Amino acid sequence: MKQIHKEMFARSHKAGEQDTWLTSPELLKALGKFDLDPCCPAKMPWRTARKMIHQPKDGLAVEWRGRVWCNPPYSSPLPWVQKMAEHGDGVMLLSANIDTRYGQLALRSSDAVLFVQGRLLFHKLDGSLSKGKWLRNMLVAYGKDNVETLRALSQGTVSPGVVMVRKSLRKQAPK
Ligand SMILES: C[S@@+](CC[C@H](N)C(=O)[O-])C[C@H]1O[C@@H](n2cnc3c(N)ncnc32)[C@H](O)[C@@H]1O
Repeated sequence: MKQIHKEMFARSHKAGEQDTWLTSPELLKALGKFDLDPCCPAKMPWRTARKMIHQPKDGLAVEWRGRVWCNPPYSSPLPWVQKMAEHGDGVMLLSANIDTRYGQLALRSSDAVLFVQGRLLFHKLDGSLSKGKWLRNMLVAYGKDNVETLRALSQGTVSPGVVMVRKSLRKQAPK
């Protein structure tokens, strides 16, 4: 039994299999237009941003400009959160593992976090829906406008949930 578990773990953690979970077009539409997506597969069935980077180019090494969409490779999200924290304008889609180093950094550095209710659907490279929807997700906003995007999203049907906003950006309640 132990051996079977080992093999399943090794198989599911092969880079590529684990890394290419595509964001649904519905979610992208609800988030609005992006200038850059620094981590894409070579062939995407739909656009995620005006400029889309894929390997062998390294999305971590290019200059990030404008509003950035980042659904990073699941095998190594930390450097992408670090880069977004430095950049300060964009939205990230992350597993809601808030006890990890990347999760802690995302909570510390961002302006708002939307903890998604239920599970998001992802797509495979051919555009078909993936059966796996076991991950808990959070959307993380950097920059004031992206905070508003998450607020709106949290009230909608595509990705409802609870938004936590940095104190300095909270709306004052009417007196
Ligand atoms: C979770 S998928 C996200 C795909 C797409 N951006 C989306 O939102 O649907 C992450 C992608 O990043 C790619 N990737 C991994 N490392 C990269 C790097 N250093 N530079 C560019 N792309 C990379 C992987 O091949 C994978 O297709």
